[in-house]
Amino acid sequence: MTRIWAHRGASAYAPENTLPAFARALELGAEGVEFDVQLTADGVPVVIHDETLERTTDGTGRVADHTLDQLRRVVAAAGKPGFGDVRVPTLTEVLDVVVPAGVDINIELKNSVEPYPGLEEQVLAAVRTYRIADRVVLSSFNHYSLRRLRALGATPQLAVLYSDLLYKPWRYASRLGMGAIHPPARFVLGHGFVRKARAAGVAVRPWVVNGERKLARMFRWEADAVFTDVPDVALRVRDASALS
Ligand code: G3P
Ligand code: MG
Repeated sequence: MTRIWAHRGASAYAPENTLPAFARALELGAEGVEFDVQLTADGVPVVIHDETLERTTDGTGRVADHTLDQLRRVVAAAGKPGFGDVRVPTLTEVLDVVVPAGVDINIELKNSVEPYPGLEEQVLAAVRTYRIADRVVLSSFNHYSLRRLRALGATPQLAVLYSDLLYKPWRYASRLGMGAIHPPARFVLGHGFVRKARAAGVAVRPWVVNGERKLARMFRWEADAVFTDVPDVALRVRDASALS
Protein backbone atom coordinates (compact mmCIF):
# COMPACT_ATOMS: atom_id res chain seq x y z
CA MET A 1 0.00 0.00 0.00
CA THR A 2 1.21 3.48 -0.86
CA ARG A 3 2.44 5.28 2.23
CA ILE A 4 1.61 8.89 2.92
CA TRP A 5 4.49 11.23 3.67
CA ALA A 6 3.90 14.80 4.77
CA HIS A 7 5.91 17.16 2.56
CA ARG A 8 7.79 19.73 4.72
CA GLY A 9 5.38 18.53 7.46
CA ALA A 10 1.66 19.16 7.01
CA SER A 11 2.68 22.24 5.07
CA ALA A 12 -0.81 23.14 3.84
CA TYR A 13 -1.87 23.75 7.44
CA ALA A 14 1.18 25.06 9.29
CA PRO A 15 4.37 26.92 8.34
CA GLU A 16 6.44 24.50 6.28
CA ASN A 17 9.42 22.74 7.87
CA THR A 18 8.57 23.97 11.37
CA LEU A 19 7.77 22.04 14.55
CA PRO A 20 4.02 22.85 14.31
CA ALA A 21 3.99 21.43 10.76
CA PHE A 22 5.52 18.15 11.95
CA ALA A 23 3.23 17.96 14.99
CA ARG A 24 0.24 18.53 12.70
CA ALA A 25 1.41 15.83 10.28
CA LEU A 26 1.57 13.32 13.13
CA GLU A 27 -1.86 14.36 14.45
CA LEU A 28 -3.35 13.87 10.99
CA GLY A 29 -1.92 10.36 10.75
CA ALA A 30 0.88 10.84 8.22
CA GLU A 31 2.99 7.71 7.96
CA GLY A 32 6.14 9.62 7.11
CA VAL A 33 7.55 13.13 7.07
CA GLU A 34 9.88 14.82 4.63
CA PHE A 35 12.03 17.85 5.36
CA ASP A 36 14.98 19.77 3.93
CA VAL A 37 18.30 20.21 5.72
CA GLN A 38 20.96 22.90 5.26
CA LEU A 39 23.89 24.17 7.35
CA THR A 40 24.18 27.44 9.24
CA ALA A 41 27.36 29.54 9.01
CA ASP A 42 28.55 27.83 12.21
CA GLY A 43 27.85 24.38 10.83
CA VAL A 44 24.57 23.42 12.53
CA PRO A 45 22.05 21.38 10.46
CA VAL A 46 18.76 23.27 10.27
CA VAL A 47 15.45 22.47 8.61
CA ILE A 48 14.48 24.98 5.94
CA HIS A 49 13.69 24.68 2.24
CA ASP A 50 15.04 27.75 0.45
CA GLU A 51 18.71 28.72 0.49
CA THR A 52 17.55 32.24 1.35
CA LEU A 53 15.26 33.47 4.13
CA GLU A 54 12.89 35.79 2.28
CA ARG A 55 10.03 33.46 1.31
CA THR A 56 9.45 31.60 4.57
CA THR A 57 10.74 33.99 7.24
CA ASP A 58 10.87 37.67 8.12
CA GLY A 59 14.65 37.61 7.66
CA THR A 60 16.79 38.30 4.61
CA GLY A 61 19.89 36.80 3.05
CA ARG A 62 21.37 33.33 2.77
CA VAL A 63 20.96 30.59 5.36
CA ALA A 64 24.68 29.89 4.90
CA ASP A 65 25.53 33.43 6.07
CA HIS A 66 23.66 33.14 9.38
CA THR A 67 24.93 31.51 12.55
CA LEU A 68 22.36 29.49 14.46
CA ASP A 69 22.01 32.38 16.94
CA GLN A 70 21.26 34.80 14.12
CA LEU A 71 18.85 32.42 12.43
CA ARG A 72 16.94 31.97 15.69
CA ARG A 73 16.04 35.66 15.62
CA VAL A 74 13.84 35.32 12.52
CA VAL A 75 10.22 34.19 12.58
CA ALA A 76 9.49 31.36 10.17
CA ALA A 77 5.75 31.81 9.80
CA ALA A 78 5.77 31.37 5.99
CA GLY A 79 2.75 33.57 5.48
CA LYS A 80 0.62 31.49 7.86
CA PRO A 81 -0.62 33.64 10.74
CA GLY A 82 -1.62 32.25 14.13
CA PHE A 83 1.45 30.17 14.85
CA GLY A 84 3.11 32.82 16.97
CA ASP A 85 6.78 32.63 17.59
CA VAL A 86 7.65 29.81 15.21
CA ARG A 87 11.39 29.49 14.46
CA VAL A 88 13.60 27.64 12.00
CA PRO A 89 14.21 24.33 13.81
CA THR A 90 17.45 22.41 14.02
CA LEU A 91 17.62 18.88 12.66
CA THR A 92 17.83 17.64 16.24
CA GLU A 93 14.66 19.45 17.27
CA VAL A 94 12.74 17.95 14.38
CA LEU A 95 14.05 14.45 15.08
CA ASP A 96 13.08 14.87 18.76
CA VAL A 97 9.46 15.30 17.57
CA VAL A 98 9.22 12.75 14.77
CA VAL A 99 11.45 9.87 15.92
CA PRO A 100 9.30 8.89 18.96
CA ALA A 101 6.23 8.79 16.68
CA GLY A 102 7.74 5.85 14.78
CA VAL A 103 7.01 7.29 11.33
CA ASP A 104 9.16 7.05 8.20
CA ILE A 105 11.59 9.95 7.89
CA ASN A 106 12.94 11.44 4.67
CA ILE A 107 15.82 13.81 5.22
CA GLU A 108 16.45 15.74 2.02
CA LEU A 109 19.95 17.19 1.87
CA LYS A 110 19.41 20.59 0.26
CA ASN A 111 22.91 20.92 -1.16
CA SER A 112 22.66 21.39 -4.90
CA VAL A 113 22.85 25.21 -4.78
CA GLU A 114 25.02 25.69 -1.68
CA PRO A 115 27.53 22.83 -1.38
CA TYR A 116 27.47 22.68 2.46
CA PRO A 117 30.69 20.68 3.00
CA GLY A 118 30.20 18.29 5.90
CA LEU A 119 26.42 18.08 5.60
CA GLU A 120 26.56 14.38 4.72
CA GLU A 121 28.67 13.57 7.79
CA GLN A 122 26.37 15.56 10.07
CA VAL A 123 23.24 13.88 8.77
CA LEU A 124 24.78 10.43 9.12
CA ALA A 125 25.86 11.27 12.67
CA ALA A 126 22.24 12.20 13.52
CA VAL A 127 20.98 8.97 11.94
CA ARG A 128 23.37 7.04 14.17
CA THR A 129 22.54 9.02 17.31
CA TYR A 130 18.79 8.49 16.87
CA ARG A 131 19.22 4.89 15.63
CA ILE A 132 16.88 5.42 12.70
CA ALA A 133 18.88 3.88 9.85
CA ASP A 134 16.10 1.36 9.19
CA ARG A 135 13.35 3.94 8.69
CA VAL A 136 15.11 6.94 7.30
CA VAL A 137 15.53 7.70 3.60
CA LEU A 138 18.22 10.20 2.58
CA SER A 139 17.62 12.04 -0.68
CA SER A 140 19.14 14.88 -2.65
CA PHE A 141 18.99 16.60 -6.01
CA ASN A 142 22.79 16.50 -5.73
CA HIS A 143 23.69 12.99 -6.84
CA TYR A 144 27.37 13.51 -6.07
CA SER A 145 26.22 13.97 -2.49
CA LEU A 146 24.32 10.67 -2.64
CA ARG A 147 27.50 8.97 -3.80
CA ARG A 148 29.40 10.67 -0.99
CA LEU A 149 26.86 9.32 1.52
CA ARG A 150 27.41 5.86 0.08
CA ALA A 151 31.19 6.27 0.27
CA LEU A 152 30.83 7.29 3.92
CA GLY A 153 29.13 3.95 4.55
CA ALA A 154 25.55 5.18 4.79
CA THR A 155 23.19 2.28 5.53
CA PRO A 156 19.81 4.06 5.09
CA GLN A 157 18.08 3.88 1.75
CA LEU A 158 19.35 6.59 -0.60
CA ALA A 159 16.95 8.18 -3.08
CA VAL A 160 17.65 9.94 -6.36
CA LEU A 161 15.64 13.14 -6.32
CA TYR A 162 15.16 14.81 -9.70
CA SER A 163 13.04 17.37 -11.46
CA ASP A 164 13.35 16.68 -15.20
CA LEU A 165 11.98 13.94 -17.42
CA LEU A 166 14.54 11.12 -17.31
CA TYR A 167 14.59 8.02 -19.49
CA LYS A 168 14.20 4.83 -17.40
CA PRO A 169 15.35 6.57 -14.21
CA TRP A 170 15.37 3.27 -12.29
CA ARG A 171 18.35 2.21 -14.44
CA TYR A 172 20.21 5.38 -13.51
CA ALA A 173 19.38 4.88 -9.83
CA SER A 174 20.48 1.24 -9.94
CA ARG A 175 23.75 2.11 -11.61
CA LEU A 176 24.41 4.68 -8.89
CA GLY A 177 23.62 2.03 -6.27
CA MET A 178 20.53 3.87 -4.99
CA GLY A 179 17.35 2.23 -3.73
CA ALA A 180 14.70 4.75 -4.73
CA ILE A 181 13.68 7.50 -7.12
CA HIS A 182 11.75 10.59 -6.06
CA PRO A 183 10.34 12.04 -9.32
CA PRO A 184 7.90 14.88 -9.87
CA ALA A 185 4.47 13.21 -10.00
CA ARG A 186 3.92 14.26 -13.63
CA PHE A 187 6.90 12.13 -14.66
CA VAL A 188 5.48 8.93 -13.19
CA LEU A 189 4.11 7.63 -16.44
CA GLY A 190 1.80 4.81 -15.38
CA HIS A 191 1.51 1.57 -13.49
CA GLY A 192 4.20 0.04 -15.75
CA PHE A 193 6.66 2.74 -14.70
CA VAL A 194 6.25 1.81 -11.04
CA ARG A 195 6.37 -1.92 -11.79
CA LYS A 196 9.57 -1.64 -13.83
CA ALA A 197 11.26 0.40 -11.15
CA ARG A 198 10.24 -2.06 -8.48
CA ALA A 199 11.47 -4.98 -10.60
CA ALA A 200 14.84 -3.20 -10.67
CA GLY A 201 14.75 -2.94 -6.87
CA VAL A 202 14.01 0.77 -6.94
CA ALA A 203 11.16 2.30 -4.91
CA VAL A 204 9.09 5.14 -6.45
CA ARG A 205 7.87 8.09 -4.41
CA PRO A 206 6.34 10.94 -6.44
CA TRP A 207 6.23 14.54 -5.25
CA VAL A 208 4.08 16.60 -4.59
CA VAL A 209 0.61 15.06 -4.86
CA ASN A 210 -2.25 17.09 -3.39
CA GLY A 211 -5.25 16.74 -5.74
CA GLU A 212 -7.69 13.92 -5.08
CA ARG A 213 -7.60 12.51 -8.62
CA LYS A 214 -3.83 12.59 -8.74
CA LEU A 215 -3.62 10.92 -5.35
CA ALA A 216 -6.06 8.20 -6.45
CA ARG A 217 -3.94 7.58 -9.55
CA MET A 218 -0.75 7.14 -7.52
CA PHE A 219 -2.55 4.71 -5.20
CA ARG A 220 -3.84 2.74 -8.20
CA TRP A 221 -0.34 2.63 -9.67
CA GLU A 222 1.00 1.41 -6.32
CA ALA A 223 3.68 4.02 -5.80
CA ASP A 224 5.67 3.20 -2.68
CA ALA A 225 4.79 6.53 -1.06
CA VAL A 226 3.51 9.96 -2.04
CA PHE A 227 4.74 13.28 -0.76
CA THR A 228 1.77 15.48 0.04
CA ASP A 229 1.05 18.80 1.75
CA VAL A 230 -2.38 17.44 2.78
CA PRO A 231 -1.92 14.08 4.52
CA ASP A 232 -5.53 14.06 5.75
CA VAL A 233 -6.86 14.31 2.18
CA ALA A 234 -4.45 11.59 1.05
CA LEU A 235 -5.57 9.24 3.84
CA ARG A 236 -9.22 9.80 2.95
CA VAL A 237 -8.62 9.19 -0.76
CA ARG A 238 -6.59 6.06 -0.02
CA ASP A 239 -9.37 4.70 2.22
CA ALA A 240 -11.93 5.39 -0.50
CA SER A 241 -9.70 3.76 -3.14
CA ALA A 242 -9.39 0.63 -1.01
CA LEU A 243 -13.21 0.35 -0.82
CA SER A 244 -13.85 0.83 -4.54
O1 G3P B 1 11.70 15.43 -1.61
C1 G3P B 1 10.55 15.74 -2.33
C2 G3P B 1 10.44 17.23 -2.49
O2 G3P B 1 10.59 17.82 -1.24
C3 G3P B 1 11.47 17.78 -3.44
O3 G3P B 1 11.27 19.10 -3.73
O4 G3P B 1 11.69 21.46 -3.59
O5 G3P B 1 9.94 20.45 -2.14
O6 G3P B 1 12.34 20.06 -1.67
P1 G3P B 1 11.32 20.32 -2.73
MG1 MG C 1 12.14 18.67 -0.02
